[in-house]
Amino acid sequence: LVIVLDFGGQYSHLIARRIRELKVFCEMLPFSTPVAEIAAKKPKGIVFSGGPSSVYQDKAPACDPAIYETGIPILGICYGMQLMAQQLGGGVSRAVQREYGKTGLNVLERDKLLGCMEPVEQCWMSHGDRVEKAPPGFSITASTDHSPVAAMVCPDRRLYAVQFHPEVVHTPKGQDVLKAFLYDICGCHGLWTMGSFLERAVAEVKRRVGDKKVLCGLSGGVDSSVAAVLVQRAVGDQLTCVFVNQGLLRKGEAEQVQKTFREKFKINLVYVDARERFLSKLAGVTDPERKRKIIGEEFIRVFEDEAARLGDIDFLVQGTLYPDVVESGTATAAVIKSHHNVGCLPEDMKFELVEPLRWLFKDEVRALGEEMDLPEEVVWRQPFPGPGMAVRVLGEVTAEKVAVVQEADAIVEEEIRKAGLYRRIWQSFAILPDMKSVGVMGDERTYSYTVAIRAVMSNDAMTADWVRLPYEVLEAISSRIVSEIKEVNRVVYDITSKPPATIEWE
Ligand code: XMP
Repeated sequence: LVIVLDFGGQYSHLIARRIRELKVFCEMLPFSTPVAEIAAKKPKGIVFSGGPSSVYQDKAPACDPAIYETGIPILGICYGMQLMAQQLGGGVSRAVQREYGKTGLNVLERDKLLGCMEPVEQCWMSHGDRVEKAPPGFSITASTDHSPVAAMVCPDRRLYAVQFHPEVVHTPKGQDVLKAFLYDICGCHGLWTMGSFLERAVAEVKRRVGDKKVLCGLSGGVDSSVAAVLVQRAVGDQLTCVFVNQGLLRKGEAEQVQKTFREKFKINLVYVDARERFLSKLAGVTDPERKRKIIGEEFIRVFEDEAARLGDIDFLVQGTLYPDVVESGTATAAVIKSHHNVGCLPEDMKFELVEPLRWLFKDEVRALGEEMDLPEEVVWRQPFPGPGMAVRVLGEVTAEKVAVVQEADAIVEEEIRKAGLYRRIWQSFAILPDMKSVGVMGDERTYSYTVAIRAVMSNDAMTADWVRLPYEVLEAISSRIVSEIKEVNRVVYDITSKPPATIEWE
């Protein structure tokens, strides 16, 4: 285990990613974590991230200097180096000229850390302050035109620091520098794999849960599915999963989830058919935010009823991922849409949370799902909103309209898969706008629904670009929809990006 201490740098996540790519497990902790807590985890190394502050500012983020006395190797990056310099008696001040972007690095001493580098290397810089003077006992191993100290080391105390960012691709030897720190200086072996993560996570859940009972809300999405299967490995029948069919799922999803979890994984699955309950609550409602609220609240009611019926539940499984953990509490974005996730529960429900995926990134969750042999359809499912088809049927939601959009959606998915595009696209789906238009079929005039198709590329759903789908794929989708769904006589393709549009239409 290696700890990344986060000082708020924009690349902190990336450091964690790079370390894991070197097959060393790492956790990111806030800079304020007490040294005793860090030491108790027995990390083989610690990395200080960069950060936006100046070390000489009031209230600049700083860790307890006792960390330097633990004997654990430390690598300071950017702000992390400046902090180390300042805390150990060196000098930091505003640079005459800030360095930003690709910068030439003069390697003065090819020590254990920089041994992989040539005397002159390219590196990526992003800083306004610089270390003027290395602390006593340190030697300077690299410099640049504007930074007299671009790397400094004190091997006796196992302290290392670089001003540049080894974690970004614009430092071509960056990964080798991290590797040298992890393997040669910290003595990590690079044996961390999904298999070893799984073993560790299962043992941890077992230890925490003991012989108590655990509940899990399954949505059919990859996160809750992987979390459920992992917890079942740990505690077997002490786990009960609740899967609520609110009538707003994708076509065939209810059956698929039951088959996967009941038959393949032999998980205790409570299937709640709440279709009537949700649809009757949604009758006559057209406002998108009201729809979301109603579904969110009703979901909680259904879940509460089930939990009460099951009795004596101590733990609740949630498929929280690492980015959620890191971002929670810091995001203060305006409410564009009140997202609700399956599994978001009222505060007065007294469960302890089990979050076995809280250290993982999305692609790692998928790898873990594959490791546990979850089916491809689950592991590679595109994201699906908690309120489901309700936000893809514009205007009032009725059973008839949901059935139309489910059919259309299934056709989109089939054709996109057939074209080999499903995994590459962030989301692709059908929408049923609240409109009809005139058409002609046979010799008859028709007056039927329009279906819209949306396909977007995105990294994080915050921004998205519409996909330039091949015309043949669009054609196949369009002709199948109008011929297979009698209620539809027109198909249109959404060619807006986010912003200004959002991914979902409501
Ligand atoms: P928008 O439409 O805001 O969507 O661009 C961004 C991402 O979030 C999904 N989404 C939701 N997910 N509950 C969810 O769990 C919701 O209410 C919700 N609304 C949108 C959407 O599918 C996209 O991936």
